[in-house]
Amino acid sequence: MVCPSDHWLEPIVRVQSLSESGQPVIPDRYIKPLTDRPSFTRSPPDLNIPIIDLAGLKNVDVTVREATLKEISIACRDWGFFQVINHGLSGELVDGVREIWREFFHESMDVKQKYANSPKTYEGYGSRLGLQKGAILDWSDYYFLHYLPSCLKDHNKWPDKPPSLRELVEEYSKEIVRLGNVLLEAFSINLGLKQDYLQNAFGGDDIGACLRVNFYPKCPQPDLTLGLSSHSDPGGITFLLPDENVSGLQVRRDQQWITVKPARHAIIVNIGDQIQVLTNAIYKSVEHRVIVNPDKERVSLAYFFNPKSDLLIHPAPELVKPETPSLYPPMTFDEYRLFIRTRGPQGKSQVESLKSPK
Ligand code: OGA
Ligand code: NI
Repeated sequence: MVCPSDHWLEPIVRVQSLSESGQPVIPDRYIKPLTDRPSFTRSPPDLNIPIIDLAGLKNVDVTVREATLKEISIACRDWGFFQVINHGLSGELVDGVREIWREFFHESMDVKQKYANSPKTYEGYGSRLGLQKGAILDWSDYYFLHYLPSCLKDHNKWPDKPPSLRELVEEYSKEIVRLGNVLLEAFSINLGLKQDYLQNAFGGDDIGACLRVNFYPKCPQPDLTLGLSSHSDPGGITFLLPDENVSGLQVRRDQQWITVKPARHAIIVNIGDQIQVLTNAIYKSVEHRVIVNPDKERVSLAYFFNPKSDLLIHPAPELVKPETPSLYPPMTFDEYRLFIRTRGPQGKSQVESLKSPK
């Protein structure tokens, strides 16, 4: 496996600059093959991913708590994607953090370029995922930063403008980690594991938490491209704060792409590849992608809640039985991520390729 170098192999073009140039056609490098284009399959207009009210987990009535756990269980098994409301983060906080990031992307290019990233760690301001020369690119820019483990957190690598960004990101991150632990516990109980099983498998207090803020500029030819190509998330659980006013996220369900309609102040939760491995595929990561818009930009915050990067991740022994043998050999998240960072978004091919030979 090649180690990502500390510079990009091709010049980096900011998609936001392309968008702002006012050109009516997009460069060829962003044109997807026909079968990947948004219009190739119709998406059913009235289907949505499940919405779960997490207040139920704290209800004094045990039947309400159990009913909420059951809803989470069904959503994990059947969908791998759901949205949560009453998650404990205030509407003011979620709107505030999204809008301050929007302001960041509207800062001058000089302010953003100070944080230009490299494929070695991906931290900072970026415009592509994956290294392959000549690859077809996605219509988005992003900002990537680490919150946990604390040894990777470096405020100097977080934008210094707008002024309260760092403080808001700190507050939001703390809340997301709390929510992450609530869900790991719910998943453990639902799987019949000890209630702290998944938290421990993730490394207890040493988990990883990193944020990718996606910026999808307006696109003059949205039917030809994607904001983010189909992929499953490599980590544990993802918490996505969508842009409530602009839809764009689509989730694959069989051969259809369902467009997510976010509830007010909801956070979208999805299963990543590491949970698929830990549960021996009882819960599966799900492919998703983002479509773009001719007259609206879109901002989303994807928080990745990951296992400690040097722990071996393997199916929980309680979930490995003669009828359901272990599907995956142990691998650390570090090794897995390297594989992903080299190749970029590729549907579910990476986790599928991990499977033990039969
Ligand atoms: C991601 C992702 C979806 C979105 O960043 O991994 O799937 O709506 N984002 O931006
Ligand atoms: Ni994703």
